[in-house]
Amino acid sequence: MEQAQVTITPAKGKLGVLLPGMGAVSTTLIAGVELIKKGLGRPVGSVTQYGTIRLGKRPDNNTPLIKEFVPLANLEDLVFGCWDIFPENAYEAALHAGVIEAARLQTVREELEALQPWTGVFDQHYVRRLSGPHVKVGKNKYDLALQLMDDIEAFQGGAGVTRMVMLWCGSTEILMELHDVHKTLRNFEQGLKEDHPAITPSMIYAYAALMSGMPFGNGAPNLTVDIPALLDLAAEKGVPVCGKDFKTGQTLMKTILAPALKARMLGLHGWFSTNILGNRDGDVLHDPASFRTKERSKLSVLDYILQPNLYEDLYGTYDHQVHIHYYKPRGDNKEGWDNIDIFGWLDYSMQIKINFLCRDSILAAPVALDLVLFLDLAQRSGLSGIQEWLSFYFKSPMCAPFLYPEHDLFIQLTKLKNTLRYLRGEEQITHLGLEYYQQT
Ligand SMILES: NC(=O)c1ccc[n+]([C@@H]2O[C@H](COP(=O)([O-])OP(=O)(O)OC[C@H]3O[C@@H](n4cnc5c(N)ncnc54)[C@H](O)[C@@H]3O)[C@@H](O)[C@H]2O)c1
Repeated sequence: MEQAQVTITPAKGKLGVLLPGMGAVSTTLIAGVELIKKGLGRPVGSVTQYGTIRLGKRPDNNTPLIKEFVPLANLEDLVFGCWDIFPENAYEAALHAGVIEAARLQTVREELEALQPWTGVFDQHYVRRLSGPHVKVGKNKYDLALQLMDDIEAFQGGAGVTRMVMLWCGSTEILMELHDVHKTLRNFEQGLKEDHPAITPSMIYAYAALMSGMPFGNGAPNLTVDIPALLDLAAEKGVPVCGKDFKTGQTLMKTILAPALKARMLGLHGWFSTNILGNRDGDVLHDPASFRTKERSKLSVLDYILQPNLYEDLYGTYDHQVHIHYYKPRGDNKEGWDNIDIFGWLDYSMQIKINFLCRDSILAAPVALDLVLFLDLAQRSGLSGIQEWLSFYFKSPMCAPFLYPEHDLFIQLTKLKNTLRYLRGEEQITHLGLEYYQQT
């Protein structure tokens, strides 16, 4: 492939990070960044903060840190803004989320208390188990989008940021299928003015972000920006987008293990996944309509990785089930169980059990941080539209309509690093390595 001549604008000035939804993930991200800035915590799990990238041949021993290889915003330069349907400030919301313990939150209390959410664009029809008092009122959905754009403009002026990124950290909405109103920007804008029911609140935020010229990422499985109308708008405005659904606990493990089974041509009879969690996200997902959106996102992973159409004998008939149970005592500390029935040589069966006692938002916060920093990098590099190289972070990666999504975590990581090499005009790494053994 040709070496790129990409000009990357330097990451000068402050970066505004706008988060619809100030719940467990957002507050863990914000409090985490504040703790890290004070030297009271480490950004473990973040590829932008810890990751390295190999350049050139193996004997060159040239492996800089990613954050030194590409110009990323510094944590010092992040300024947060949030919307939520509850009026609590970020300190109170973080206490409510219960991810970081109260004593630790005290050390960043002042910074968190200063962050008051703007009123949200919300309609209970789309998230049935939530209702909150802190919401915008407008003539129609278009008017609500304009109000969001006003918030954005006021934030930009007040916070003195040079660039902004929006990342959806709001609740999972009910399952929405692609509708005619999503198909063209004209239909969509007409639909906003006519309060079309197929336009969800998260789509209104995405529209406001793109109209304001800022990248948009989607941490939930909702359709949101993954509709032709908004993809056309992203292309027109020249802004990057990515989604959907942060890849964290159980699905992360699935996209690590399933490629290994396939790599060794081991067969699969079934994969049963279940988990318990007791945070607000778990409560929202207790509603079957929101769960269906999540279920679709979680189920698609195995088929794409195992390709039953190519390996009918090994993967043609497996049973895949995903269950989520809201169990309050657990809070954010989700526990997941996977029972995997596999088979090997001469069809002898075997089982793998995974019991993952994870912390949902502790896994999600570094993903959110990386997405913010990489979306900003993409914008400064002139990339626009779907950023498939960020698939690494998503359960349901967005991709071009004529492609199938790539779910294998290790292919996704290679794609991410090769994109960074491409941006900096470095040679792609193919792992061929024959040259090390050729006699000259
Ligand atoms: N590991 C993870 O935590 C993880 C992994 C994958 C995906 N996600 C997704 O990320 C999202 C956030 O997760 P969370 O654990 O922080 O959930 P949460 O319930 O703690 O936070 C969501 C917040 O969004 C607010 N909200 C909902 N609709 C809104 C709207 N229209 N406008 C403004 N605010 C709104 C809610 O009031 C709530 O405070 C969820 O959709 C979840 O499914 C989380």
